[in-house]
Amino acid sequence: MSSSLTRRDWLRASGLLTAGLTAGLRVAKADVQRMPGHSVFVNEFAPLTSPPDTMPKLRARLLANENPLGIAPSAKEALIKASEIGNRYAWMEFAQLKNLIAADEGVTARHIMMSPGSSDILMAAASHFAKGGGTILTSAMTYDDLLERAQRMGAKIVSIPMTKEYQYDLNAIKSKLTPEVKMVYLVNPNNPTGTVVPTADLEAFCKEVSPKVPVFVDEAYIDFYEPAARPKLGKLVAEGQNLILARTFSKIHGFAGLRLGYAIAQPEMLKLLKPYTNGEFAVSITTLMAGIASYQDKAWQDHCRAENAKARDFTTKALTALGYEVIPSAANFILFPIRMKPKTFEGQMFANGIGIQTRDFSGQPYCRVSVGTMDEMAMFMDSFKKVVG
Ligand SMILES: Cc1ncc(COP(=O)(O)O)c(C=O)c1O
Repeated sequence: MSSSLTRRDWLRASGLLTAGLTAGLRVAKADVQRMPGHSVFVNEFAPLTSPPDTMPKLRARLLANENPLGIAPSAKEALIKASEIGNRYAWMEFAQLKNLIAADEGVTARHIMMSPGSSDILMAAASHFAKGGGTILTSAMTYDDLLERAQRMGAKIVSIPMTKEYQYDLNAIKSKLTPEVKMVYLVNPNNPTGTVVPTADLEAFCKEVSPKVPVFVDEAYIDFYEPAARPKLGKLVAEGQNLILARTFSKIHGFAGLRLGYAIAQPEMLKLLKPYTNGEFAVSITTLMAGIASYQDKAWQDHCRAENAKARDFTTKALTALGYEVIPSAANFILFPIRMKPKTFEGQMFANGIGIQTRDFSGQPYCRVSVGTMDEMAMFMDSFKKVVG
């Protein structure tokens, strides 16, 4: 994990954690470290020099890959309706959503486990596969929450460098498969690079590797990818391959605060992961009903995907015109190398009311900016020009 930063490292490096805590946050440091996944979300959105209650002063919140358009109007209606049956356990609603997903994926409802966001699935897999040691094989420059938890639970993390084009080096990953490897973890589209593994290559990799060791594919950003181009990994699960797919409603559906996600895997695998979760009833009936509405609202998803692509292209072009090398992104964020110290850059952007993240990979600083609305991206570009001079 040396070439990539965990969220927590990033916060520490940027001074946000310290700033938040010294500013009188009621989250004790011990608690912060105990809550993986969303461990520091109170701090995460806080401007560098201010306590979290000044957070709304951010003019553009471009640091957590949220959907700037909000949740679908159909999901809002469903939330209101759901409030009337908040006294009921959600048996029927779980079945309804699972059946919808199963029909799309070509699996059965037994291949699906719902969760409050996909972080729970990531954490469950980390805990299960790190049990008793062993190795998790992955790529450098990828999402670290699962890896960090697995490492803390005793696993060794082997991260294979990316190619020059910021692609996963699948052949190099395959060459590191040893009997110690308990699981391979891939993120597609990848966070923070935004790059995608070509569909045929990913499917071939999964078919070849998963008979030897489970392959976890984190598809948090898959909905931003054009539907026709997406890998059909559900089909591979239906064929019996040992894959674990993690999906979330936090991104295109805008449910980051509502919390909904799911895993698709073999029923026996879900049984192994389940004891490390809080169970499906950790998802509320309100969120579930909103999720059912949003899942079926293809028009809203198409709208969000199109708006995201427009704002992403605008930003990519504007940065390229300034001479920056922007990594082509298929997701709702953009990563690009910057020429300033990350902490200085980040601090100045926050001071301008623009929340972004910075990363350092092998000594090279990068900015990761989430794609907001066109207005927000125009504000980002204005501030960026001022900050970099
Ligand atoms: C790659 C990836 N996986 C999983 C998650 C977890 O998201 P959530 O728990 O909100 O579903 C995130 C969140 O940003 C992510 O970037």
